[in-house]
Amino acid sequence: MSEAPDDLVVPRSIAVIMDGNGRWARKKGWQRVRGHEHGITAVRETVTECARLGVQALTLYAFSEENWSRPETEIAALMSLLKRFLVEERPTLMQNGVKLVHAGRRERLSPEVLALLAESVALTAGNDRMTLCLAISYGARTELVDAMRAIARKVAAGQLEPEAIDEATISAHLYRPELPDPDLLIRTAGELRVSNFLLWQISYAEIWVTDLCWPEFRKQHLWQALQAYGKRERRFGRVPS
Ligand code: FPP
Repeated sequence: MSEAPDDLVVPRSIAVIMDGNGRWARKKGWQRVRGHEHGITAVRETVTECARLGVQALTLYAFSEENWSRPETEIAALMSLLKRFLVEERPTLMQNGVKLVHAGRRERLSPEVLALLAESVALTAGNDRMTLCLAISYGARTELVDAMRAIARKVAAGQLEPEAIDEATISAHLYRPELPDPDLLIRTAGELRVSNFLLWQISYAEIWVTDLCWPEFRKQHLWQALQAYGKRERRFGRVPS
């Protein structure tokens, strides 16, 4: 299948847990880091195809808070890959009208990573076809902690009444309040869990899991996910219509 099927239902917002890089590489007898390297090709193809199809926001789980406890060599390899990505993918982002943003804590990221990130964010700020949100040093529970702290500071300063806090207040204090909640969460490499990713935002997301590892993921697989998504009945707690 080289053309996108014409029955695709394109969600406004997609989030992806890109899992299985290490397993894919090990199966080939390679170092785990080669799996991450090949993962970049899947990132490029997914970003390009989502932008072409008219997805408004794509959030990729590139490095979790929990990933800081991996061996130092693997963290260093992932960070150097991230730096390469932030520079080398600029033409792809520009050609496809993609605006880059970051979700996550900044404290543990190196000044170099932060500088390259800031440059790419600034360069792509005027693009408006799709927003690519890279979740780096991201954990959903830490995001909620940070949001609660920000809200508590406003309450303590007398700027906000506790009774005025509602769901919209919490959404507005997350890292990227401007992004629509994901309609579809894609996970590769077969695990049936959400791994501390966007816990608040995926409340009503449809979940699609494939056994393929992330380095193998191509636009045909994205289309499969969108076809499956199109067949789901999204009820948001209501009775079937
Ligand atoms: C999970 O595979 C993937 C990651 C921890 C990192 C994701 C990174 C990439 C796809 C490459 C870099 C991306 C960007 C945007 C720079 P895993 O290592 O947990 O695989 P395993 O479960 O098989 O061990």
